[in-house]
Amino acid sequence: MNILSPSILAADFCHLEQDIKAAEAGGAKWLHIDVMDGMFVPAISFGMCVQESIRKCTDMFFDTHLMIKDPIRYTEEFARLGSNGITVHLEACEDVRKALASIRAAGCRAGLSINPKTPVESIRPYIDDFDMILLMSVEPGSGGQEYIPESTERIRQVRKMLNEAGAEKDIEVDGGVRLSNLEEIITAGANVIVAGSAIFKGDITSNAKAFMQILGR
Ligand code: DX5
Ligand code: ZN
Repeated sequence: MNILSPSILAADFCHLEQDIKAAEAGGAKWLHIDVMDGMFVPAISFGMCVQESIRKCTDMFFDTHLMIKDPIRYTEEFARLGSNGITVHLEACEDVRKALASIRAAGCRAGLSINPKTPVESIRPYIDDFDMILLMSVEPGSGGQEYIPESTERIRQVRKMLNEAGAEKDIEVDGGVRLSNLEEIITAGANVIVAGSAIFKGDITSNAKAFMQILGR
């Protein structure tokens, strides 16, 4: 089952509710919420108050991506403010296992993310501790970047690693996903697709529909 998780980082915050509902009307069931702290990544995006507000306007699955240092400090709070899944970066955690456990303890699905330059082997010790692996296919920090071509091989390697371990987990891909590379990404083994600019720039509902059509094949 393939999932589309539109990233609101690319939405227009003047009318966030309208943009979210347009993505939902196009068939998206998840919403990707990019939280940046100005430390783990240079940019600062938005935080709790935005998530708390939009929780009131949709029942979509909130897929919260914490690009923050020592994310364990905030996992419980995001869970309380409506996250259904929370993803932390391996590079940002002092104790990865503890951070993932805090997410599950708060009742959410636990995601672990790695940056494009982090070896895929580094996730192996944590296979039992996460429900989803988020492979960054751009350097985290901003939307609208180009997909790093090597990411496709990394998806294949992770899917192989998980299959060999007998682990049925989601693989999410984030950064530079467009209609033009979507097929390649799914075929490599990803099943959760983040897309920001490709969904929220232009006609949101028809963009989402076009993605869903390929994801549903
Ligand atoms: C990047 C964020 C992404 C970003 C994706 O740091 O994690 O979720 O919003 O945006 P696009 O799809 O425009 O590359
Ligand atoms: Zn993201």
